[in-house]
Amino acid sequence: MDLFEYAKQVKEKRILDNNLDKEKKSIIQEPLWKNPSYEFVNSLEELKQIALECKKCKLCLTRKNVVFGEGNPEANLMFIGEGPGKTEDETGRPFVGRAGELLTRIIENGLKISRKTVYIANVVKCRPTVEMKGEKDRPPDQDEVEACSPYLIRQIELIQPKIIITLGNPATKFLLKTREGITKIRGNIYQYNDIPVIPTYHPSFVLRNGGENSPLKKEVWGDMKLVIKLMQDLGIKN
Ligand code: URA
Repeated sequence: MDLFEYAKQVKEKRILDNNLDKEKKSIIQEPLWKNPSYEFVNSLEELKQIALECKKCKLCLTRKNVVFGEGNPEANLMFIGEGPGKTEDETGRPFVGRAGELLTRIIENGLKISRKTVYIANVVKCRPTVEMKGEKDRPPDQDEVEACSPYLIRQIELIQPKIIITLGNPATKFLLKTREGITKIRGNIYQYNDIPVIPTYHPSFVLRNGGENSPLKKEVWGDMKLVIKLMQDLGIKN
């Protein structure tokens, strides 16, 4: 294929050839984050490098860091939250603030596995704040979820987790394509592309509503029992 035809196809977003030599790439290739999906990416690290440059939605204007996700690339368990908060935005790591500490306790004391063995990601990779002021956190807008979701979809495809645990409404609604709220939906096992999904409350929601000794925390513990049972049924150790 000659360069002209290649450039035309790239422009029409029909192909994006990663193997093209650097010189041609620099002449005609659009930034990789502009692709509508990332099937052409074959590793989490490569996907992360693309996400770090992303300008697909307004959150890129206020972020300090893109919070791509972290953990074992071959994890059996994948946890999906909503989006980075202040500490995550500052550090570039998911779930490291107060909610993250609770999530870590849920994983390590509840499931009795090390946080390092699982993978933790969010629906959106940049911090959403009220009126874009960088102060108060808010749930991601629909257009932000849509713009960012191809990263999450490819993360799941690359990791191929055996079980997904969604934390709160945005992650649950996105994966299960439901309008039902988390309160109604939790307590059962669902499917996303043949992967079992166990939804539970977001740790921030638990902290805002009574914390460790609240009825909500007991319900999260009930959901973790479901996870443990499913891990046993599927022969998963961690
Ligand atoms: N809340 C989330 O949903 N994700 C994080 O990474 C931190 C807090």
